[in-house]
Formats: sequence, structure tokens, C-alpha cells
Amino acid sequence: MEEDISPLPRSERLLFPEKVFLKLKPIISNLINTGYKPPFLVIDSFTIKRRYYEIIKLFPDFKIYYAVKANDNLDVLSVLANLGSNFEVASISEVVKLVELGVGGHRMITSNPVKPVDFIEVCRQIGINYLCIDSKEEIDKIKYVFPDAKVYIRLEIENPESAWPLSGKFGLLEDEVEDIIHYASRKKIELVGLTFHAGSQNNSIESIRKALFVSKRVFDIAKKYKINMRVLNIGGGFPIDYTEKSRNLREFSKIIYENLSMFSDYGDISLQMEPGRRIVGEAGVMVSRVIGKSFRNGENWIYLDVGVFNGLMEVIGGINYLFRTNSRKKEKVFNIGGPSCDSMDIVAKNVVLSEPDVNDLVYILSAGAYTNVYGAPFNGYRVPYVVVV
Ligand SMILES: Cc1ncc(COP(=O)(O)O)c(C=O)c1O
Repeated sequence: MEEDISPLPRSERLLFPEKVFLKLKPIISNLINTGYKPPFLVIDSFTIKRRYYEIIKLFPDFKIYYAVKANDNLDVLSVLANLGSNFEVASISEVVKLVELGVGGHRMITSNPVKPVDFIEVCRQIGINYLCIDSKEEIDKIKYVFPDAKVYIRLEIENPESAWPLSGKFGLLEDEVEDIIHYASRKKIELVGLTFHAGSQNNSIESIRKALFVSKRVFDIAKKYKINMRVLNIGGGFPIDYTEKSRNLREFSKIIYENLSMFSDYGDISLQMEPGRRIVGEAGVMVSRVIGKSFRNGENWIYLDVGVFNGLMEVIGGINYLFRTNSRKKEKVFNIGGPSCDSMDIVAKNVVLSEPDVNDLVYILSAGAYTNVYGAPFNGYRVPYVVVV
């Protein structure tokens, strides 16, 4: 039989965020026509729902705690609260937002291993009973403020393949765990399990597999101290499409489920996960305007009203956004700068774009996670506001 070498239909070649963009484009035009001024971040609630249900389908035995840090916009949280999501929080103000929406403390956990004492006190008062630790000092604080808390250990996992590694600052290495378990048991703190995070925008299933093996060994160490670990929290980190297709979530689910049998001696353990980026990232399109252009040292530059400091900070860690414009001119290669007078404020280099003029729109795709939440009005350029549609 003759092999079919006809090119894929265009829609099948598109990355997921491009499809989201095509859907949002008329809505964005409408917003602009009715007076919305860039820069703003449009978030598609349907995409959030789609991603949330995808996770439920692929991880049916896991309780989902959306990592609020990825995007703490009230309307985003409200969509997720209405879907029945639980939440991973790291501060009092994140808790306050959820309480405003009527979410009780029993739907929250905190995997922040270093918490201010007043945050621990708020956890006690509103019933956020599951708290993470990775040091004796944190155990001491919890013992003092919230002695009945259920505590879980944060492990440090090597994650060289993630775009935004979360190692190096937090977490216990495997050979540090026993000392902490011993300390928690002497202090009569209820140690219930562990969490790890394989780094954000992590495309490696191998690092998750290794993390599960370390987790199992930690469960075994705890058993020696007659501590029955019963919570396994696999964190977040699941990748999304930026300029390239990310690893399919199905592959993560497969490797995780294949390795869960290691824990069968521990009975019905409670499985948790904390996705952030995967739920909101591709749902967001940043709408920005070109505020300037130049030709410098043989290179074309455009400058946007959103840059590294007021929303696109992740470019510093290597996130490459996908850009589109409303221009119909010929394509050229551009460097893209932000609005501030700081030479660090470079958003991307060598991007091929239909040449925009000053005042044209530039759309930044997959911008729903770690953008507005990271932004600061440096040099007086405001952080984009969020419109959930
Ligand atoms: C403790 C914790 N959980 C979950 C997340 C969410 O990670 P991601 O957005 O990569 O899914 C983070 C991200 O920094 C985190 O620190």
C-alpha cells in the first residue's frame, strides 16, 4: 500500500496554545473594541476546565490541589473552586482569597516548607491540617503553634531537565531524612507522608520515576520508627506547550501508575498532586502593544508594554514564549524588549514575526502561569490585569 505522505491538516499541526489563541482572538478584538487597554492577560476558563478534567481522567486516584502560586486571580480560583478542586497555598493572602470564595481550610494544604509563624497560626485556625516541613526548625515552629498538625516531609529531587528547577532551596536529601523522622517522632509530631516536586515545566519522566523510588525508601525508613506514612504527594511540574510540543501527560500518568505498586505494603495511601502551570498556563494569552521600534547594530527591535519585570519574568529562567501579531506585513526577525529602562528587560531574541508597527498588538501565548503573579510595576509600568472569559 502506498504510504500517505500528504501534510497534516493545518489544525493538527498547531500547538495547543495556538488553538486556544485562535478561539480567543475574536474575543480579544471585542475586548479591545469595547475599551480594554493592553497590556492585559486573557484567560480562557474553558481551557482551565479542559486541563483540570484531563488530569482527573489520567490520575483518577489522586486528589488535586491546584498550586495557587501559578495564578492567584480570584476568577481563576473561582473557576477551579466550582470544579471541586482543592488548593495548595503558601501564604496568608492566598488563603484569604480562597476563604473569600467560600473554600474551607479542609480543601487546602501547604507544601511551603518554610512558613512564617503567623501563617501556621492561620492554618490552625481555619483547619489547614496538612503542613510540609524540611527542617527541625520548622518542626519546632509547628510543635509550638499547631501541635496537632499532620506533617509531611519535602524531599529534594534532582531535576536537571526541568525548565524551572525547584531544587537547591528546599527539601531533604534521602540521607538527611532519617534524622528528621527521628526528631519528629521525639517531638511527638504526627508525620503522615511526603511530597516532592520534580521541577516546573519538567519534561522528564525519569526524574519522577526516581522520585518515586526515593519516596518508597523514605516510607520504609519511617516504618522503622513505627511511623505509618500514608500520604504520597507528587507535587506539580507537568509541562505545557510553549514554542514546542511538551511531553504528553499520559506518559507521566503511565510511569506514575506503573510505580505505585511499590507502595502496596502500605495499604490505601492517600495520593495527592499539586499542578499549577499545567492547569492555567495554556489558557492565557497576554495582549500587549508595540510601544517602540528600532534598528540597532544590524538587528530589528520591537518594544512592548509588557516585559521581564511586569509579567514575563520566566524568560530569565529560559521559558520561550510564542508570539503572534495582528500585522499582515512581511515576516522579519526581531528582538523583543520590555518597556523599562533596564537592559535586563529583554523578552526574546531572534523571533520571526510579521512586522508590527508602533501601536500594533502582539499576543504572547501560554502566558497564564507565573506571569501576572510575578509582575511588579518597575519603572512605573503596570502589571497586566486579568480578564477571565
Ligand atoms: C510546592 C509546590 N507545589 C506545586 C507547584 C506547582 O508547580 P507547577 O506549576 O510546575 O505545576 C510549585 C511550583 O513552584 C510548588 O512550589
